Amino acid sequence: MKALILSGGKGTRLRPLTYTGAKQLVPVANKPILWYGIESLVAAGITDIGIIVSPETGPEIEAKTGTGILFGAHITYIHQASPDGLAHAVKIAQPFLGDSPFVMYLGDNLIQDPLAEFVADFQSRPLAASIMLKQVANPTAFGVAKIAADGSVVELVEKPKDPPSNLALVGVYLFSPAIHQAIAQIKPSARGELEITDAIQQLITTQQKVAARELSGWWLDTGKKDDLLEANRIILDMYITSPDVQGTVDERCKISGRVVVGKGSQLTNCTVRGPVVIGENCLIDNCFIGSYTSIADSVSMSNIEIDHSVVLKGAKISGVQRRIVDSLIGERAQLMVSDHRPKALRFMVGDDSIIELVS
Ligand code: G1P
Repeated sequence: MKALILSGGKGTRLRPLTYTGAKQLVPVANKPILWYGIESLVAAGITDIGIIVSPETGPEIEAKTGTGILFGAHITYIHQASPDGLAHAVKIAQPFLGDSPFVMYLGDNLIQDPLAEFVADFQSRPLAASIMLKQVANPTAFGVAKIAADGSVVELVEKPKDPPSNLALVGVYLFSPAIHQAIAQIKPSARGELEITDAIQQLITTQQKVAARELSGWWLDTGKKDDLLEANRIILDMYITSPDVQGTVDERCKISGRVVVGKGSQLTNCTVRGPVVIGENCLIDNCFIGSYTSIADSVSMSNIEIDHSVVLKGAKISGVQRRIVDSLIGERAQLMVSDHRPKALRFMVGDDSIIELVS
């Protein structure tokens, strides 16, 4: 069994962060989203992993993720020249996949259910494909499945205007090599892409066995800000199980709950309520840091309150008099208030940035 992780795409829904970086490398609890996928594949015993990358973000993904040695895996990078669809990615990965069955994993998806059981079930039956489903409130944004009373898949439609159910296709799939033939038979969709949903539908149309199971745990598709904050909340809750303070914290600090402070970070006169993760070499003075906040390496913050937010590497935040909530602050971004009663707001804001002053 091999795995194919799709880590290309433009990440339009996470702009402006994705103008400069890959959406799959945006950190959740200070670790790139993509790495959780790699780790869950390795935990399921799958170590021969291909990663599809785009020309824009491939070099950054390769440089950060490496050969796989970090994870006990062997990673092969496969270059997709343009984002022509998920099924197109499988097509170009054929030399890597050969005749092997494989897990296809979308690099910005996270699931709670362990993969091992799903893989074992697939291997125990003669299936052409196995898909995961989850009920969602907005099925028009996904691939959607129609399921018969006996649990078999009747129909799959990509981004339907009139969804046949509220069961969305999760971005983790299991395929036998039969998928390659199905892909060879489909045409690009209205959005100009070779859709994996259409290829699985092709398997169904040609009477091949496709199994579906509804996930019992959470599923996160981290392509947008609020989904990313939700992923951050859930992952901090799950993975930060005990406090671990390696940096220095002075005697005026009040640290409560599960708080991680990385090496070389200095906290003075701060209140921190876990779960919170703070990276390495941060300077934080006179701040309140509320639950479900992740602060990456080399961030400096002073005289602010922040809650339920993600702050990326090298950002500087100081003197903002209102509490910062539900926010995603990009790498090296600066948010500074130098006066107690500022009379003006001065901005240099990147394309597609969002600033909201809320009550
Ligand atoms: C893709 C698939 C869709 C699936 C979704 C899960 O959509 O085409 O069927 O439900 O991933 O994240 P996309 O992210 O390309 O819009």
